[in-house]
Amino acid sequence: MSATAVVGLQWGDEAKGKIVDLLTSEHDVVVRYQGGNNAGHTVKFDGQTYKLSLLPAGILRDGITSVVATGVVINPKAFLGELDGIESRRGKVAPEKFLVSDRAHVIFPYHMAEEAVLENSRKNDEKIGTTMRGIGTCYREKAGRTHAIRVGDMLYPDQFKRRLTEIVEFKNRMLAALDPEFKPFDAEAIFTEYSAYTERLKPYICDTTAFLHHALAAKKRLLFEGAQGSLLDLDHGTFPFVTSSSSSGCGIHSGSGVPERAITRMIGVVKAYTTRVGGGPFPTELNNEIGQHIRDVGHEYGTVTGRPRRCGWFDAIAAGYGARLSGVDCISVMLLDVLSGLDELKICEAYEINGERTTDFPSHVERLAQVKPVYRTLPGWKSEIAHIRKVADLPANARRYVDTIAELLCSQVEIISVGPDREQTILG
Ligand code: GDP
Ligand code: IMO
Ligand code: MG
Repeated sequence: MSATAVVGLQWGDEAKGKIVDLLTSEHDVVVRYQGGNNAGHTVKFDGQTYKLSLLPAGILRDGITSVVATGVVINPKAFLGELDGIESRRGKVAPEKFLVSDRAHVIFPYHMAEEAVLENSRKNDEKIGTTMRGIGTCYREKAGRTHAIRVGDMLYPDQFKRRLTEIVEFKNRMLAALDPEFKPFDAEAIFTEYSAYTERLKPYICDTTAFLHHALAAKKRLLFEGAQGSLLDLDHGTFPFVTSSSSSGCGIHSGSGVPERAITRMIGVVKAYTTRVGGGPFPTELNNEIGQHIRDVGHEYGTVTGRPRRCGWFDAIAAGYGARLSGVDCISVMLLDVLSGLDELKICEAYEINGERTTDFPSHVERLAQVKPVYRTLPGWKSEIAHIRKVADLPANARRYVDTIAELLCSQVEIISVGPDREQTILG
């Protein structure tokens, strides 16, 4: 049995897409197991840039089977739009090479409307700052069960229509009560629209759990592509400023149906600094010219929403917690090149909360908001590193910086990334 998992250890956008693409050639099957089109994974090679949201990065390589597993929430319109975009650039994706779980839950327009009402009802500093893709409201229906529709349900038109009509009537009443400007949804129109999506999706829909079990038995090499990051995990992240799925390594088993013991290599991905999009405390945030410098050099603007990402120093307490949650075997340090040119760099190695020092990550955001980061200051390096391909060729201070991350995360760094392209990678 061989399965690799790639998970983000921070608040998302750690460049998981690049690592998954890099490792795809050593695998047979690439699996997305949680999240939805809130994710934005960028892959660059041969002078081309691909932005993937719902489709696994495996879709970009020939001979790979891509799986969108049970724990994902699917907006069929976004899904098919993305598939069309990829097919127009890379040719037809054969149905036997692309599988969509019949158990995955479906996002409908009322999920987005409900999310907008909920977000707008919160005060500015309490807004989660979601991607407004209906992710949280769809997962809520999944947990609540009464108003949930799964991909496989759409294959039974009569039942699907009956359920959808009941749900839309309920949502119309609820949303009209909450928003005076709300225009009711037309169940018939949604049914017609989603029936057309179902026709197109049909060749891809199957029991992906059974497929993955057979793949494991046949000794196929699986690669799990995490979305979001460990600190956005619904149970273990900075609740309520999280996403609504298990976005740490904890979600692989529940989201795919593949037992955790099948994972033979868990790779934790971190940026060489920290970013966050949306609300919530961020102890090492830099609201100054260094933060802006990192944003400019790292092009730190959201792949999905275009929002400027909040930037800060590397937080080894936050990322270390992410690493322990996911049980990583090794670390990939990404975007190291972005830090070139800074005189000195800081890494948060402890938190001080109400005068007490700790290396534990707080369970409540109220406590996280009180954190005073304790920094270790390291000398920077002046030269560009984007062309370097061997650890030994990195400036001594860059090596020292990476070694410090490894030391504080109690793990080893196996991959260092010095640019967005597939080639701009140093394997340790
Ligand atoms: P993901 O959501 O974790 O897959 O990450 P994103 O794709 O949202 O964000 C990572 C961004 O960094 C993308 O624009 C990548 O092209 C880019 N990137 C990846 N690795 C590197 C790197 O080593 N250096 C630089 N400068 N950019 C990188
Ligand atoms: P990738 O896979 C960074 C953040 C949103 C918001 C919170 C909840 O590209 O790393 P949601 O729409 O999921 O209910 O929003 O989670 N968020 C991400 N931040 N990268 C992502 O994905 C994210 N997906 C969601 O900004 O703060
Ligand atoms: Mg992203």
